Amino acid sequence: MKIVAIISQKGGAGKTTLAVHLATAAAAAGHAAAVIDLDPQGTAASWGDRRAAEVPEVISGQAVRIPALVNAAKQNGADFLVLDTAPNADQTASLACRAADFVMIPCRPSTFDLEAIETTLMLAKAAGKPAYVVLNAVPPRSSIGKEAAEGLVARGARVVPHQLTHRAAFTHGVIDGRTAQEFEPRGKAAEEIATLYKWLCGLVDMPTRGHAKKAA
Ligand SMILES: Nc1ncnc2c1ncn2[C@@H]1O[C@H](COP(=O)(O)OP(=O)(O)O)[C@@H](O)[C@H]1O
Ligand SMILES: [Mg+2]
Repeated sequence: MKIVAIISQKGGAGKTTLAVHLATAAAAAGHAAAVIDLDPQGTAASWGDRRAAEVPEVISGQAVRIPALVNAAKQNGADFLVLDTAPNADQTASLACRAADFVMIPCRPSTFDLEAIETTLMLAKAAGKPAYVVLNAVPPRSSIGKEAAEGLVARGARVVPHQLTHRAAFTHGVIDGRTAQEFEPRGKAAEEIATLYKWLCGLVDMPTRGHAKKAA
């Protein structure tokens, strides 16, 4: 089983967006995917409540229970877990990092967000887990994303070579518990998620296609 923690001390960076889109991509590809929502705001869990499809499963819980939740997911046959976390650098984020194989840090390419990323990077480093920043909500047709990526690399961060653009489908898709790839399957947001998912599979050494009984 592969576990990806999504952390960032910034609210609105795109943690939940990334969590539900990646888990749904994995479920659609035949993996037994689940999201563990560790944010007391419960955004991912509410998305799961609105969702008609059975997968990915969304479980809400507290960080101190991560080992038990991971164990239960494993017993239920899950092979891909995404941990969605709250926007702070407290114990929740470090426990999620510790439980994960891989950490993803969504970040908007704005000065304030980029400045605030240091704490999040340090958290992942302290947990000794590979961590990558993924630039999210990048304005289309501008060089802002490229410049932000270069700035992050210059500061020693590892940056995902694929960015997520600011697109309405990411917001509209989740209204009724779907995702951009379900809302607009041939859209650019869907394409970006597919690319990011494939890249992630390569990095965590997980086959892109799984053999779960239920598919999204
Ligand atoms: N790539 C994107 N394009 C458009 N809107 C986005 C994108 N990523 C996130 N959003 C929107 O930004 C808001 C915050 O995203 P969210 O995933 O809830 O952040 P977090 O979980 O880090 O607080 C949500 O309304 C979400 O729909
Ligand atoms: Mg969130």
